[in-house]
Amino acid sequence: MSDEERRNRGEVPALELQGVSKRYGPTLALDDLRLTLAAGEIRGLVGENGAGKSSLIKAVAGAMVPDVGTVTIGGHRLTPPTPTVARRLGVSVLFQERQIAPDLSVAENVLLGALPRRQWGGVDWPNAYRRAATELERVGIELDPRLSAGRLTPAEQQSIEIARAISRDARVLIMDEPTAALSGTESERLFSLLRNARERGVAVLYVSHHLPEIFELVDSVTVMRDGRVVATQPIETVELDRLVELMFGRSLEGEVAELDEAPVDGEVLVQADHLVVGDVLRDVSLDVRAGEIVAVTGGVGSGRRELARCLAGAQRPDRGVVRVGRGLRRVRSPHGAARAGVAFVPEDRKREGVFLELDLTENINVATEALHRVPVVRPRRRRGISDRWITRLGVRAPGSAIPAGALSGGNQQKVILGRWLEAGARVFVLDEPTAGIDINAKLDIYELLKDLAAAGAALVVFSSDFEEIRLLAHRVLVLRRDKGPTWLGRKALSERSLFEIGVAP
Ligand SMILES: Nc1ncnc2c1ncn2[C@@H]1O[C@H](COP(=O)(O)OP(=O)(O)OP(=O)(O)O)[C@@H](O)[C@H]1O
Ligand SMILES: [Mg+2]
Repeated sequence: MSDEERRNRGEVPALELQGVSKRYGPTLALDDLRLTLAAGEIRGLVGENGAGKSSLIKAVAGAMVPDVGTVTIGGHRLTPPTPTVARRLGVSVLFQERQIAPDLSVAENVLLGALPRRQWGGVDWPNAYRRAATELERVGIELDPRLSAGRLTPAEQQSIEIARAISRDARVLIMDEPTAALSGTESERLFSLLRNARERGVAVLYVSHHLPEIFELVDSVTVMRDGRVVATQPIETVELDRLVELMFGRSLEGEVAELDEAPVDGEVLVQADHLVVGDVLRDVSLDVRAGEIVAVTGGVGSGRRELARCLAGAQRPDRGVVRVGRGLRRVRSPHGAARAGVAFVPEDRKREGVFLELDLTENINVATEALHRVPVVRPRRRRGISDRWITRLGVRAPGSAIPAGALSGGNQQKVILGRWLEAGARVFVLDEPTAGIDINAKLDIYELLKDLAAAGAALVVFSSDFEEIRLLAHRVLVLRRDKGPTWLGRKALSERSLFEIGVAP
């Protein structure tokens, strides 16, 4: 029987890795890894931050060359291991880091490397715009293909990447944390696109730290730890607790303490009065007291991004006023907000956040030094500070001296969080603070945030993770497009209540 016949009978795996290893200095990112994926299968890939998931994906995409081992796609060896060859063999990837050219149009970003040409070589723009619009429509979003991609929100950029990955004639479709920037409804739409791909015989590899969606979406799940595969099982045969145990080598059951009641007499540290931004944010008011954690949830276009930016002084509301900190000073600029004691961790922190070339000590100390104008820089003390946060947040790194760019995605997030925690703010505006962070570290971060509140800080957490909201929030503000804001108290908070007002899928 020829390879082609075996492929057609589904006997040749869509993807196979054999004995793949990759070392980065002291870190063995992939350690004799083996994995087989069949056509028409959706496989979940899970593991703690730094387990090697993205490294595996890069090896399949030809974006990284393993030290040893082979990658085979539909029976063909990936050789030479380059992105071009991988793409030709049918590998399509949505990477964990955004791959968007901000200076190019939406159309160019969607059709990257596949722009339609005229007979004499020039780009056929009318055709390109039409095709890009069609691809975007297929993934369910309306965006003007002529817009500059740099002006889009992170969620919109994410949908461009989804459109790009899905539109290519993929045999193996890989998604590394695709829902980190998406709301419930958008994730649902992505899932139905992935299920369609499965029907067409595409093999899907899906990475997520959001375990409920793993259970909802995948046929089978592979758990990685320390660069190796520790288990692969049909999803019906695993329970959540067992999966967590496989990921971390221990159970996390009962590790979250109950949330204390919010103090009723705390000083008001955040006061937003009748905010209006365009037609997305229509008259929203909010008071947050010292000791309180308020969650804000809502899909794209609900105004949540605008609200976060207004609270942090990064955007001026069209109407209304924001006051923060002791004595409630009016916020007019990001710097003013920071001086009044506001720490802002934005949604697009990859763009605004990590200094990839600088080491962890620089990355963690930068906010404190900029805000408090630390006069004398003492290297040993700075190192001590970053070492402490690395330990406290469980950052997987061989020490403070390595550049942030050498960390896995989730570990970079922890570093940025550490930076703001160290800066000692009184008000925290956190947009998806644990996106991309594994659940073990998430639980630690929740404890940290609760400690901050208990010590007198006011926190506003923008989140689309229901479990996070449930574990953290004293009150929830639900924002919806076309409808007014709704408040939910802790007691009224359930998946059902969010479902009923239309934010949960
Ligand atoms: N370019 C690099 N230089 C040095 N070390 C690296 C590099 N890329 C990855 N590593 C290391 O390899 C290990 C695996 O990283 P990888 O990005 O594959 O993890 P991951 O499972 O994707 O984690 P996350 O859930 O945080 O995204 C980590 O310890 C990381 O620090
Ligand atoms: Mg990763």
